[in-house]
Amino acid sequence: MIRANENFNKLQASYLFSDIAKRVQIFQDTHPEMEVIRLGIGDVTRGLSPAIVDGFRQGVEEMAQDATFRGYGPEQGYPFLREAIAANDFQSRGADIAADEIFVSDGAKCDSGNFQELFAKDIKIAIPDPVYPVYLDTNVMAGRTGNYENGRYQGIVYMDCLKENGFMPKLPKTPVDLIYLCFPNNPTGATATKDVLSAWVDYARENNALILFDAAYEAFIRDDRLPRSIYEIKGAKEVAVEFRSFSKTAGFTGTRCGFTVVPRACNVYAADGSKISLHGLWNRRHTTKFNGVSYPVQKAAEAVYSEAGKVQVKEYIDGYLANAKVIRQTMTDLGFDYVGGENSPYIWIHGGGRDSWDFFDLLLNKAGVVCTPGGGFGRCGNAYIRISAFNSLENVTKAMERVKDALK
Ligand code: MLT
Repeated sequence: MIRANENFNKLQASYLFSDIAKRVQIFQDTHPEMEVIRLGIGDVTRGLSPAIVDGFRQGVEEMAQDATFRGYGPEQGYPFLREAIAANDFQSRGADIAADEIFVSDGAKCDSGNFQELFAKDIKIAIPDPVYPVYLDTNVMAGRTGNYENGRYQGIVYMDCLKENGFMPKLPKTPVDLIYLCFPNNPTGATATKDVLSAWVDYARENNALILFDAAYEAFIRDDRLPRSIYEIKGAKEVAVEFRSFSKTAGFTGTRCGFTVVPRACNVYAADGSKISLHGLWNRRHTTKFNGVSYPVQKAAEAVYSEAGKVQVKEYIDGYLANAKVIRQTMTDLGFDYVGGENSPYIWIHGGGRDSWDFFDLLLNKAGVVCTPGGGFGRCGNAYIRISAFNSLENVTKAMERVKDALK
């Protein structure tokens, strides 16, 4: 008899963003006259920048000729892209990351979800609350948690991120083996200083732990004092893996491309305590389960690092940061307490006593504006909503006017 993975029974009914999409669809079907403005899921809306389109086009044209056609590429990504990433994203910032430590993939969601496959089932995991649901759900699927009780999975060490601690996860009191961190943070928009990350790196080194660092939103950092990569921190190369994405950086949510950095100096331990190369394990997993990102997409990603690409991508992100400013101003005018939106596309807003799903329903029904209920990111998010800056300035401005009217 074919039997199901019973760990799936522990999961909440559906993935947060699918659940929201269903609710919005029902609302849209029953209110066809309402133009819904989506500031929920962090999905980009602006077209790809011209330099990126040129790279894409060149890749497609090469694929159209026998002489330049390419079939299967290297699973880890073409050297031209890995080298551009290593030089621009890391070496230029003093982080000693080599091209062969970079694994190009179809995005940070898949990599951050898949990476847990490399670890034993009984490791201790520390996860922030609120958190991007993928880290947690994939560990639930893998059987690393007990049941869901009172808004939490048994067996996970939750790190509460609240206003009182500046939305910063605190070092766990009991030793853990795997730590998920995300900065600029999804969903709160909070950012971490070098000192904060240094404390985590020290903790990981002292406890033979590993940090999975999600830096999908690093391109939104405009404060030069903030680190963009965990590898800007001394000693991180031995204890951290970093996920990056072209989705929010350059508009690739539909195009799909990201990468994961697995330094050669990073190890995990066998049951007898001997060291195993994490790079080797991920390479084995990646080459077995993944066949590489398409050549034109990698050409498009390479163009992100061209001189024109760099200028255009900065301008692209500046546009979303300008939207974030409009959202922040509106929340200030309305007297809401919020964080984020300065070096991040997300604004995390305290609902002033409203439950997050009630606040979500209110904004959808009265303003036709979609946000993300904070409770979907964890128990510590129950009093919050997340508003994303990903839309046109016109729509964000219109949405904020409607929110003002709805909350009058
Ligand atoms: C989000 O809205 O949190 C993200 O867009 C989800 C994702 O990147 O998968």
